[in-house]
Amino acid sequence: MSVGIGRERQFEVYVGGARGVRPRAPVSVERLEQAARKTMSAEAYAYVAGGAGTEETIRENRAAFERWRIVPRMLRDVSTRDTAVDLLGTRLSSPFVLCPIGVLELAHREADVAVARAAAAEGVPFVFSSQASRPMEETARAMGDSPRWFQLYWSTSNDLVASLVARAERSGCSAIVLTLDTTMLGWRVRDLDLAYLPFLRGRGIAQYTSDPVFVEALQETLRQAAPPGGRITLAALATLWEMAGSYPGSRLASLRSGLARAAVRRFVETYSRPSLTWDDLAFLRERARLPILLKGVLHPADAVAAIEHGMDGVVVSNHGGRQVDGAIATMDALPGIVEAVAGHVPVLLDSGVRSGADVFRALALGAAAVGLGRPYVWGLAAGGEEGVKEVIRNLRADFDLTLGLAGCASVAEVGPDSVTRA
Ligand SMILES: Cc1cc2nc3c(=O)[nH]c(=O)nc-3n(C[C@H](O)[C@H](O)[C@H](O)COP(=O)(O)O)c2cc1C
Repeated sequence: MSVGIGRERQFEVYVGGARGVRPRAPVSVERLEQAARKTMSAEAYAYVAGGAGTEETIRENRAAFERWRIVPRMLRDVSTRDTAVDLLGTRLSSPFVLCPIGVLELAHREADVAVARAAAAEGVPFVFSSQASRPMEETARAMGDSPRWFQLYWSTSNDLVASLVARAERSGCSAIVLTLDTTMLGWRVRDLDLAYLPFLRGRGIAQYTSDPVFVEALQETLRQAAPPGGRITLAALATLWEMAGSYPGSRLASLRSGLARAAVRRFVETYSRPSLTWDDLAFLRERARLPILLKGVLHPADAVAAIEHGMDGVVVSNHGGRQVDGAIATMDALPGIVEAVAGHVPVLLDSGVRSGADVFRALALGAAAVGLGRPYVWGLAAGGEEGVKEVIRNLRADFDLTLGLAGCASVAEVGPDSVTRA
């Protein structure tokens, strides 16, 4: 009989210690972040760690988790525990997915592919980002039959939207996650201070440069005269070199053709559509055979509107505090949204999930599953694929033990009674 992932992982770590081996990646998320930081450039670290404005919402996301206390129950036979949940017709061994995170090459050169392998090894769904560093087809190939979803940013071109969705379906994705909260970039002070945006260097635009609709449209951008450039500086040349290195094919060829530079320009012109409204969702609903989840929902009325527009789920998210500083913490938004949705569609939550206790608390308030964000990027930076695997295993283990120690033998036993407001 299995002792469960929690005790297995503890055993693995402690027995390793007896043989003189410590975990590759620190188990504590704070120490993991510190280890990751040492491997990253100042710009890369700021891009991942940072949030909007004063970063109040990053802090609030954590504080809101900490306002809920777990109330453990005793003597309930928790010798075997079932951490699985059913989500959109798939049984997941643990109630979490890996959030879509763009520009993973900032953390590790294997980027999305390393995360995909780790996610597949642990059976945890990976949500491919629209701003990924690798084309979704390549990332999907690294996952075998393991579950993956695709996160969509709605660009100004509906043809591109349709093309990305069709590619996601062909790549074996089983859901589309439409992110609503990033129609414009938030005011990210750390990135502004470093004057750094990865996309302008050709990073994190692989879904676009691998897309036939986008590449076709590039010809038009190439024909248009380039905007008057400033003085040619060494830094500008270095940026051009970086751009060309990110573009598919040889660096020299893309420098000569001007395609790398054109791709960045075209991306900047088209990547988001602030004019998007609820009426636009019909276009996506008609084209996507897959379930669609709306990510970035924070108001109960928007969750109700999602259902009215035929959506299959909502993700309560404030983008990890990267968009609206001062925005409501997701754990504060969750109860009202769960009530409004009344079980019609699953409600997921991300932003601030750092431990098994956080997963437990979100489920207690009615989340069907949660999204893990920055911690797996720290794992990737600190230890590549193995680092991500350890982060996932640790969260699965931590949740399994929290579940059992709180007196629950399965996720079905976690409910409003399992927590109390501090
Ligand atoms: C570096 C970074 C890049 C991100 N890129 C995307 C993205 O491309 N698409 C998206 O929907 N969300 C993106 N997010 C938001 C995450 O999906 C998720 O909502 C957030 O990371 C949760 O907050 P947490 O990391 O603090 O837990 C990104 C977050 C970070 C930190």
